[in-house]
Amino acid sequence: MGSRLRIVEAVAVCATAILLTACNAKDYQIAKVAPTSGNNAKGEVRFYKVDGGVRVIASIEGLTPGKHGFHVHEKGDCSAPDAASAGGHFNPTGSPHGAPTAPPTARHAGDLGNLEADSNGKANYDRVDSMLVYESLSGLSILVHAGEDDFVTQPSGNSGARVGCGVIQPAR
Ligand code: CU
Ligand code: ZN
Repeated sequence: MGSRLRIVEAVAVCATAILLTACNAKDYQIAKVAPTSGNNAKGEVRFYKVDGGVRVIASIEGLTPGKHGFHVHEKGDCSAPDAASAGGHFNPTGSPHGAPTAPPTARHAGDLGNLEADSNGKANYDRVDSMLVYESLSGLSILVHAGEDDFVTQPSGNSGARVGCGVIQPAR
């Protein structure tokens, strides 16, 4: 008894492993950012579940050089020409607006700070946020603003018009 059964067993284990790998191949969520009316901001934001929170990796182009407010907003709806349909900052704790480095009592969960565009209008962002919860992201949106988030002005940091918007959804 044995060797033939063991071979069958090994094949079964291997097939299971291949299936699991395929299922986990795109284990992140993504927002494809498109420009609002009259603007050019576009790109991609990915969200990964990691130890310590959610890793947010963004690559956005079509910006003016400098800082641009960058937030998760409460509604997954970018349909309005000015993206007003995305609602306010994602704020399940009812906290004031603040910097992403502030404690949870002094920031919205959606407060991700600023993107910083180079002289070509391209911005990259890569940080782990400790307040966002990966499982809560799907169906929310990510917004890029015309101006800098000052982290102080309520309720949204005075970062101006919404120049880019994307709905967060599981990657396929
Ligand atoms: Cu915003
Ligand atoms: Zn905020």
